[in-house]
Amino acid sequence: VICSGAEDIAYMRMVLELARKSAARPSSEPRIGALAVERGSIVGRAHSTPASAETSSERPDSPALAALRDAGARVTGATLYTNVEPWHVTADRESCVSRLIEIRPARLVIGGTPQESSSGSSVIQRLTTAGIRVDISVLEDECEELNAAYFKYTRTGLPFITVKFAQSLDGRIATSSGDSQWISGEEARRFAHQLRSEVDAVMVGIGTVLADDPLLTVRLVRGSDPLRIVVDSRLRTPLQARMLLDGGAEQTLIATTELADRKRIEELRGLGAEVLVLPAAFGPGAAAGNGNVNLVELISELGRRGVASVLVEGGAGLITSLLAVRRVDRVIAAIAPKIIGRGIDSVGDLGVTKLDQAINLTRVRTRQLGNDLIVEGRIL
Ligand SMILES: NC(=O)c1ccc[n+]([C@@H]2O[C@H](COP(=O)([O-])OP(=O)(O)OC[C@H]3O[C@@H](n4cnc5c(N)ncnc54)[C@H](OP(=O)(O)O)[C@@H]3O)[C@@H](O)[C@H]2O)c1
Repeated sequence: VICSGAEDIAYMRMVLELARKSAARPSSEPRIGALAVERGSIVGRAHSTPASAETSSERPDSPALAALRDAGARVTGATLYTNVEPWHVTADRESCVSRLIEIRPARLVIGGTPQESSSGSSVIQRLTTAGIRVDISVLEDECEELNAAYFKYTRTGLPFITVKFAQSLDGRIATSSGDSQWISGEEARRFAHQLRSEVDAVMVGIGTVLADDPLLTVRLVRGSDPLRIVVDSRLRTPLQARMLLDGGAEQTLIATTELADRKRIEELRGLGAEVLVLPAAFGPGAAAGNGNVNLVELISELGRRGVASVLVEGGAGLITSLLAVRRVDRVIAAIAPKIIGRGIDSVGDLGVTKLDQAINLTRVRTRQLGNDLIVEGRIL
């Protein structure tokens, strides 16, 4: 049954709040919240904890079962709300379903749409037969968004790619001399660090390394540093780049091509960075010129290595190429109330001559941080 009563929506929003409390990384695990409600009062709640931190034998029940345990005697008449189907992540799926049938809450409301595998739907059938009413798809888009990286990665083996940039009102990410620090204000920059803390990797083009010498670490909020990736087809990354000398060089991956100088590869490896040699790209994805790093190959390789989410922080050349090869899942633009005039456009030529060829964002959200407007949307 697809259900969207006001009460269900309100409880599902609380479930999403709970889910957001669970550790954000690695994005190869979903964030789950669960709430047990009986006659209008919340009698149980739980959220996921990072399973990677636990050995499999200590792995706790699904948050849904934990919320039901919380409910104690009131469980029989309770409705269990959860954003992801309860049996989704447990090590032992079958025993989770059996426990659910044993405990038998009156009703189960699942925020997302359970995966359409035949086993998924047969589980719902089993629960229904056991007398548990099951409703699905409450706040579906919000539930999908919260675990978008996890869903994409588990379904495709490819990382979820977010492109983020700060631009002036007139669409520039830097002045004509390449100055971009800082276009956005303090609050938007803190938000950018928050985003870094939620992804497995951040990625920039070599143009950005040469212009800004960024560290790409999490500093303005609490959180651990993601892997840093530089896309650099001829290995122009300076040996003095801050990200090689900050003590975390092994957290730096430089993606290059067979055209790169062998000696330079060894020098960079000598500093502790990983140099990943990929085939050169020829064609639209190369954008900045033929012989650049093949981004489609790079993204597939990151997926094979378990990188489930990537935050691309510029610059214009890299962003343009990723959009051209249709590898962007989400765009976040911080628009600052500044006018630069001639400068570096946020996005270069995409060959769009008619408006119906433009890339449209969906599920768009806007909000203000300081004086900056944050526009966020998905490319589905
Ligand atoms: N406001 C912001 O949010 C923001 C963020 C970041 C940067 N910026 C600014 O943006 C400017 C840098 O932008 P940019 O466009 O010059 O540099 P970029 O996008 O950082 O780097 C582009 C370079 O990456 C290399 N590359 C390798 N493979 C590629 C591929 N497949 N597609 C595209 N590039 C590939 C190319 O150099 P090789 O051919 O040598 O490999 C290319 O020239 C700087 O002024 C920086 O301050 C602003």
